[in-house]
Amino acid sequence: MIELKTISKVYDNNIVALQNINLNIQEGELVVLKGVSGSGKSTILSLIAGLLKPTSGDVLVDNKHISKLPDHFCSDYRRDTVGFIFQKYNLIPTLSVQENILLPLVPLNPDEKELHVKLENVMNMFQIEHKKDVIVKNLSGGEQQRTAIARANVNNPKIILADEPTANLDEKLSKEFIKILQSLKKLKKTIIVATHDPLFFDLDFVDKMIELHNGKVVCC
Ligand SMILES: Nc1ncnc2c1ncn2[C@@H]1O[C@H](COP(=O)(O)OP(=O)(O)OP(=O)(O)O)[C@@H](O)[C@H]1O
Ligand SMILES: [Mg+2]
Repeated sequence: MIELKTISKVYDNNIVALQNINLNIQEGELVVLKGVSGSGKSTILSLIAGLLKPTSGDVLVDNKHISKLPDHFCSDYRRDTVGFIFQKYNLIPTLSVQENILLPLVPLNPDEKELHVKLENVMNMFQIEHKKDVIVKNLSGGEQQRTAIARANVNNPKIILADEPTANLDEKLSKEFIKILQSLKKLKKTIIVATHDPLFFDLDFVDKMIELHNGKVVCC
């Protein structure tokens, strides 16, 4: 479903972030991307999300050439197919929980009823319903995380990308996140988690562990 074919990425300052990466991820798989800081994990997620273009090689999702799409098609692809969970949540602190969750749907101009159903669905799923009118800056770290996860799922994307999702969480909340991951996997989402948190390294429901070192795959 997701294919990276001989991908290289050289940033403007001539930093080689990725070299000849080949990856094949099947629908419904949970993949953990590990590697030390600077090894290229976030760059891979950004390429799959269509946020970055490779210097060479090709990114295919459902046989579609994501890396060759013009920018406006890329944002459609991202909105319809990808849910991104960021390390620092990227929520808007002055908006409420429900306003943040609805943000990805704004450009779609959906009708009120549909909006409400989608909102209630993800708020229940990720247990943040009771805080729906609270301004995000007044939430705890775990509640912000659940809001961010609800927002990433509001459009029911097939692919979930999570970049260092537990970096700001304590051990209890990290374990809660892992349970959420397990429930997303049961929903047949294709999930890629970039992390150096050892909590992810021996989970029995992880399908693939990929290790990066200096922009190359060292272990699959
Ligand atoms: N926008 C950018 N411009 C220039 N160089 C960049 C940019 N983004 C990343 N890099 C460089 O590319 C390399 C890979 O970065 P990347 O962010 O993908 O690593 P990472 O594995 O996610 O690291 P971390 O664990 O610290 O998040 C690093 O050397 C980094 O400095
Ligand atoms: Mg990173």
